[in-house]
Amino acid sequence: MTRIYTLVNQKGGVGKTTTAINLAAYLAKLGQKVLVVDIDPQANATSSLGVDKHNVQGSTYEALLNGDTPASFVLYNERLQLSLLPSSPSLAGAEIELVDELGREFRLKKALEPFDKKYDYILIDCPPSLGLLTVNGLVAARDGVLVPVQCEYLALEGLGQLTQTIQRVRSALFPDLRVRGVVLTMYDPRTNLAHDVVNEVNNHFPGQVFKSIVPRSIRLAEAPSYGLPISSYSPASVGAKAYETLAKELLKGDGVKIN
Ligand SMILES: Nc1ncnc2c1ncn2[C@@H]1O[C@H](COP(=O)(O)OP(=O)(O)O)[C@@H](O)[C@H]1O
Ligand SMILES: [Mg+2]
Repeated sequence: MTRIYTLVNQKGGVGKTTTAINLAAYLAKLGQKVLVVDIDPQANATSSLGVDKHNVQGSTYEALLNGDTPASFVLYNERLQLSLLPSSPSLAGAEIELVDELGREFRLKKALEPFDKKYDYILIDCPPSLGLLTVNGLVAARDGVLVPVQCEYLALEGLGQLTQTIQRVRSALFPDLRVRGVVLTMYDPRTNLAHDVVNEVNNHFPGQVFKSIVPRSIRLAEAPSYGLPISSYSPASVGAKAYETLAKELLKGDGVKIN
């Protein structure tokens, strides 16, 4: 059975995309068949994996509008052994175009059905909003959401709103939606603040925070401009080690054996 996780946090710049692609890259390196699904019109996950968003054959836009995903939309990166269902700028219109559609919140879930059992993991990267695209991401998150939280001032701000949205989706659309875990990102060990945020987030989400914390790392910020995940761009860097550890922690929690 495919495990489907959605990266969500309506705040921009907290590390959703960075976590989606680097976690995906390490899951793939650890032997998992992985599909990254980009539902952000900004298509950062798409370009971070070296794909030109202006030049894709088919994207999550068509998949969402038609509720169907031809296999030809999926781009396979041989070197990374990683698959991508890309986004495209046309996705920006989808929120409006879907408004009058029947079952509009279930479009992504339906569009991903052809991939059930084909992959071990599907990671969905959401836009920085709580609109219809993100709601589609939540409804499709069969095994839960991964919430990246930046270790900075006001880290918890907005998480109340996210929790409310998750509750609303539970009561109206998908009762079993769960939080798989909070991923702490951009940790700077030199500051007291980062340490405080880690404590605060652990108090707020007891038992739900991944032990692997992603440090602030310039290499992680550079990698997307080369179209590479950190596992290829700078595998010895601290950021790479962090995402590798996170991938192992996720696999262990999921009961997946690795060799
Ligand atoms: N651990 C990190 N260290 C340094 N820079 C990071 C780290 N994680 C993300 N970044 C950078 O911060 C910016 C926002 O990250 P991103 O993953 O795009 O956030 P989101 O998808 O939540 O908007 C990007 O420029 C990214 O390269
Ligand atoms: Mg993003």
